Amino acid sequence: MALKIVIFYGSARASRQGIKAARFVARQCAARGHQTTLIEPLSHPLPLLDRMYKEYAAGAAPPVLQSMAEAIDAADGFLIVSGEYNHTVPPGLSNLMDHFLEQYFFKPSGIVSYSAGPFGGVRAAMTLRAMLGELGTPSIPSTLPISQVHKAFDDEGHALDAAYEKRADRFLTEFEWYVRALKHAREHPCSRGECASESAGVGQVQSP
Ligand SMILES: Cc1cc2nc3c(=O)[nH]c(=O)nc-3n(C[C@H](O)[C@H](O)[C@H](O)COP(=O)(O)O)c2cc1C
Repeated sequence: MALKIVIFYGSARASRQGIKAARFVARQCAARGHQTTLIEPLSHPLPLLDRMYKEYAAGAAPPVLQSMAEAIDAADGFLIVSGEYNHTVPPGLSNLMDHFLEQYFFKPSGIVSYSAGPFGGVRAAMTLRAMLGELGTPSIPSTLPISQVHKAFDDEGHALDAAYEKRADRFLTEFEWYVRALKHAREHPCSRGECASESAGVGQVQSP
């Protein structure tokens, strides 16, 4: 089943490197038949947060905010490609994501972290988990850390080391399981007294 996936990437630096990781992730998703939308600060320029999307009257949000809200609302899940700035989440990434809230609810996220050094941005990934939980898009257990991001991909997002394709395959297989499980649960909401049978249905989804 083709899924709708929004990929977030938050760096606006002229010499940004993580965009290659974001393109790699988009390629891997497309190869699996999924539809992706990449949301990043150059194609989706937003000011520092003033008003969240929900603070605008219907139809009054700026067009870029409106198109982002529609993409996030339609998504089945989110892949967050995050660098590590001073051991935490880059502010450009949280600024993009903080403009929205309800559009994330009951959909899972997957964390792809990266850095120029050897640790693959894992410290930012742990901070990002807490942030994503609060946004209502809990992150799946596995992450996909990428070390020396500037050497890992070409400009179009092809992996220079085939090991990344194998690691991405395992990570995306797990992500798809959670996306499908929560999609099933959203499409079969349990009403009072029916929750037991509905939970049984979710449990029948094939695990990876
Ligand atoms: C403001 C700033 C803070 C950084 N802090 C860290 C850090 O805490 N840990 C780390 O491994 N790399 C750090 N780096 C290096 C980044 O991993 C590297 O520059 C990476 O390419 C940044 O992502 P981007 O190119 O997509 O913006 C930092 C870079 C910047 C610009």
